[in-house]
Amino acid sequence: MTSPDQDVTSTPLTDPVGRTLPDLPEPSVLMSHGPARIIALCNQKGGVGKTTTTINLGAALADYGRRVLVVDFDPQGAASVGLGISPHELDRTVYNVLMERDVTATDVIRRTRVPDLDLMPANIDLSAAEVQLVGEVARESILARALRQVEDEYDVVLIDCQPSLGLLTVNALTAAHGVLVPLECEFFALRGAALLIETIEKVRDRLNPRLEVDGILATMHDPRTLHSREVLARVHEAFGDQLLHTVIGRTVKFPDSSVAAEPITTYAPTHSGAEAYRQLARELITRGDAA
Ligand SMILES: Nc1ncnc2c1ncn2[C@@H]1O[C@H](COP(=O)(O)OP(=O)(O)OP(=O)(O)O)[C@@H](O)[C@H]1O
Ligand SMILES: [Mg+2]
Repeated sequence: MTSPDQDVTSTPLTDPVGRTLPDLPEPSVLMSHGPARIIALCNQKGGVGKTTTTINLGAALADYGRRVLVVDFDPQGAASVGLGISPHELDRTVYNVLMERDVTATDVIRRTRVPDLDLMPANIDLSAAEVQLVGEVARESILARALRQVEDEYDVVLIDCQPSLGLLTVNALTAAHGVLVPLECEFFALRGAALLIETIEKVRDRLNPRLEVDGILATMHDPRTLHSREVLARVHEAFGDQLLHTVIGRTVKFPDSSVAAEPITTYAPTHSGAEAYRQLARELITRGDAA
């Protein structure tokens, strides 16, 4: 959906690191749905925009007529709360799907207020799974198996990982076709990136040969500061064309929309932050990383 006040003639021709911005057209209408492409939002560094990206990319894809499932895979339950579902009152969550053979994904998936955007919620129960899964057979592929039951019903599944590279994150990477790595545009952004890439490569070698890095997403960018621009240039140097053209700017509208428990695309649909996530959705669709 393009906002009415958006003037196509003002669309910049280059991205924030100076590369030519490709044409990112309005996605075509899907005539049928599924099977889903599964994307894990992953970075073991905390507070880099994983949950914000999961919620807002999910909402933007749903606005474009895609059927989207968000899997909250963090015991903090931030994606659930951000989508208006209070997970601490739920007696069944993704935890039960992982741990109890008779609980299926369909049993715990809920609709959200955003049409075409469903949620598999999580709460603090999930923190026990990391330890309990250790003794399970094929412990790395429990989530992959659970998602197989529902993947034909969705076009995109987004898994919001917790800030760690433990067994839950390995489960997310084993279930996924692609990984999207949000990086905050600040001084220590690249610290830990090597370990993350190494983990992704190990999972690809040993557990999930189809796994691709879909892209690095720069978040919380403030183009007015030299610091932010320098960090972005270094990220580009380090990752080349894995750095997505779309860059998410820093704005208080994101925390504000979290407090309102809705995506920015409904909270402030004409704000540049909402347009940034719509552009990200178009970029992923154009690259073939989403339906
Ligand atoms: N582009 C942005 N501009 C300003 N604030 C942002 C932006 N993106 C996210 N935030 C805020 O930064 C904080 C961390 O974001 P978020 O929860 O998405 O990160 P996370 O990587 O999921 O964190 P965690 O590792 O704890 O799960 C939140 O308060 C969020 O509202
Ligand atoms: Mg989070």
